Amino acid sequence: MPKKIRLGILGGGGDSLIGVLHRVASFINDNYSITGAVFNANYEDNLSFAKEIDVPTDRIYKDFDTLVEEEMKLPKEERIQVCAILTPNFLHFPMAKKLLDNGFHVICEKPMTTTYEEAKILRDAHKKAGTVFAVTHTYTGYPMVRQIREMIKAGELGKIHKVDARYYQGWINPIIHDKAKRSTVWRLDPKKAGISSCMGDIGVHAFNLVEYTTGLKIKSLLCDFNYLYSDNQMDVDGTALIRIGEHVKGVIRASQVATGEENGLAIRIYGDKFGLLWEQENPNFLYKISDTEPMEVYKPGHAYNSALSLDGTKLPPGHPEGIFDSMANIYLGVAKAIRGIDYNDGEFPTMTDGVRGLNFIEATVESHKGGNVWVELDD
Ligand SMILES: NC(=O)c1ccc[n+]([C@@H]2O[C@H](COP(=O)([O-])OP(=O)(O)OC[C@H]3O[C@@H](n4cnc5c(N)ncnc54)[C@H](O)[C@@H]3O)[C@@H](O)[C@H]2O)c1
Repeated sequence: MPKKIRLGILGGGGDSLIGVLHRVASFINDNYSITGAVFNANYEDNLSFAKEIDVPTDRIYKDFDTLVEEEMKLPKEERIQVCAILTPNFLHFPMAKKLLDNGFHVICEKPMTTTYEEAKILRDAHKKAGTVFAVTHTYTGYPMVRQIREMIKAGELGKIHKVDARYYQGWINPIIHDKAKRSTVWRLDPKKAGISSCMGDIGVHAFNLVEYTTGLKIKSLLCDFNYLYSDNQMDVDGTALIRIGEHVKGVIRASQVATGEENGLAIRIYGDKFGLLWEQENPNFLYKISDTEPMEVYKPGHAYNSALSLDGTKLPPGHPEGIFDSMANIYLGVAKAIRGIDYNDGEFPTMTDGVRGLNFIEATVESHKGGNVWVELDD
């Protein structure tokens, strides 16, 4: 067994939402050990959290710049190899850029940056660095999502003509109506979140899911946002009509004020032979529907699934795996790439997905603000 990969963590402190998902995911396949971190902006919180989860404090740094500076002094065989960036959005770009410029591998939360311009700069930095770069569109790690990708790639649906992706949450509903509460949420602050709340935070996952599963690129979109209040500058709900080709169209719907919804990401893809339906809250069921045949239900771990899907299950069928395993599959793909082991295309979202995501987010804002006009995405 090769030695574990030395993982650094930026953000993801005990007070965070996403930190635990990354930590657990990194442990699941026994590939990583947390070697250093800046879990929080506040050094005391950072140190006490490291103690709480039993990470040695000798490489818990006071801030990100110190982490890079001190790690670069260490011999390569001791240095952190890959850093996971789990901070609020506005810190992704400066952190990722500096990490790439210093030769680190990077696992970056979405949205990869806060602007399309930054995303393209990062793409250039990544080309120069030649290291591994992953963007954690978590849902691509689910075995049934991977199965959709492979079934479509094999032509099982026939010619795709309609895609409907939705990501509905309700958690901003109890916040948005109270001005004082609003100001406590970084996702509603353009300085920290970027130009979009709803599309930037969750619409971008739905966008990625469309392109990941169909293998097709969205060419243009027309978007309408709801801000709910005229003094709120961030979208909390939006719908985008999408054009993939002249006769391939669809819709991406996202909301943070869909009252009562939890993490309602779902996709429906229709070809001229079959349709596929999948929902994140029941991730182990993939439904294949047809006009003439009974509905089929695909489940993880069965030999009828593709190699990419089967790579994402660890236990025999009937042992449900979920969101932690999905993220762990992304970490597994990254581990293979870092170690130079062959891996399947689609094991982790890449820099290309990150850049596409920012192109999408900015296009939705441009479309809405331009009076709900069609906006082209780059190739
Ligand atoms: N992939 C997914 O499904 C998914 C889900 C949730 C969040 N996210 C993304 O993860 C990122 C973090 O989201 P969250 O909900 O965990 O946010 P959060 O506010 O819950 O946590 C952010 C963490 O970053 C730390 N932090 C802030 N500034 C820092 C600094 N300068 N140095 C080090 N640490 C610092 C905070 O102390 C906190 O621990 C966001 O980019 C978000 O879009 C992704």
